[in-house]
Amino acid sequence: MKIDGVAWRPIWAEADGESAGIIDQTCLPFSFETKRLTHMAQAAEAIRVMRVRGAPLIGVTAAYGLALAMRDDPSDAALGAAYKTLHATRPTAINLRWALDRMRAVLMPLAEGERFARAWSLAGEMADEDVEINRRIGEYGLTVLRDVAERKGRVNVLTHCNAGWLATVDWGTATSPIYQAHDAGIDVHVWVDETRPRNQGGFLTAWELGQHGVEHHVIVDNAGGHLMQHGEVDLCLVGTDRTTATGDVCNKIGTYLKALAAADNQVPFYVCLPSPTIDWRVRDGVAEIPIENRAAEEVTEIDGALPDGAVARLRIASPGSQAVNPAFDVTPARLVTGLITERGIVEANEAALASIRPDALHGAIMLS
Ligand code: MRU
Repeated sequence: MKIDGVAWRPIWAEADGESAGIIDQTCLPFSFETKRLTHMAQAAEAIRVMRVRGAPLIGVTAAYGLALAMRDDPSDAALGAAYKTLHATRPTAINLRWALDRMRAVLMPLAEGERFARAWSLAGEMADEDVEINRRIGEYGLTVLRDVAERKGRVNVLTHCNAGWLATVDWGTATSPIYQAHDAGIDVHVWVDETRPRNQGGFLTAWELGQHGVEHHVIVDNAGGHLMQHGEVDLCLVGTDRTTATGDVCNKIGTYLKALAAADNQVPFYVCLPSPTIDWRVRDGVAEIPIENRAAEEVTEIDGALPDGAVARLRIASPGSQAVNPAFDVTPARLVTGLITERGIVEANEAALASIRPDALHGAIMLS
């Protein structure tokens, strides 16, 4: 997608062939800064402190990180150690394990001398695949938005967190149908949940949509239910960090409350789901998905720009009060209208998901 008219991705292979560039998302929207990852430890740090974030982008960054480790030491021991370090950076997004498993499976049979070159090219292939996956999610999602537009004219979408191009390698997942609808001339407007505590909605999604010229309003996280009651939301589109084989959806904290409000107001609730985000080993999302607990300071403090443009961190909770900060929640499959995947739109249940497994023999069970 474009920033001030220039095409960018949030991660790219540098021309030297042995370092990766990233957009440092901890600086947005107040400043635009890039950073060069030259060693595996820097890739791990970038994921841990969320310079890069969003499930698909975490996976691709880890792939580049593993490749950098192979450049420095292509031994089995180093491969195992880098896998362990990168895997420990963030616990919830399954794309991290998916990417590392794929890299390890390809690299282990190779001679040490071949490992770095193959790791580097595979990381690039995974980045390009992510772009194509998200483009296709957008194509399928566009049919849903077009349907609303044909009935109503304007389409009001509510989204949570940032499942935008910054969270992927391009297009985004939840934003891909929005960008494609906008580009097709559909009148689309987005309600952007600010998404406390880290404000990925107000900081990142709003910035992205603004760069692309998509009309939007940032709303506080508690406003969605009210807007739905008053007919101001036609559908919800969110991303996911891990979806179970049975269709339970883990996503940014607060997603579950939006799904409850959507169900109570008969607002369709769609989840944009790249297949690497499906954890086929997990059946019960609430019981089995590890939920990341982040620092209490993310709740008690907030970053913002002062009138002179300087960025400052403020305390916003009573001094001395403690806080807890679960970063994700699980929306049960029964609250999900449909899963928009790169292989079609399917119901959130085990049979429908099984039908889109790469090894499935039969076609997807499409929603009508
Ligand atoms: O903590 P974050 O910012 O990494 O969380 C991101 C989300 O929850 C996204 O909705 C999810 O990763 C889907 S990204 C296409």
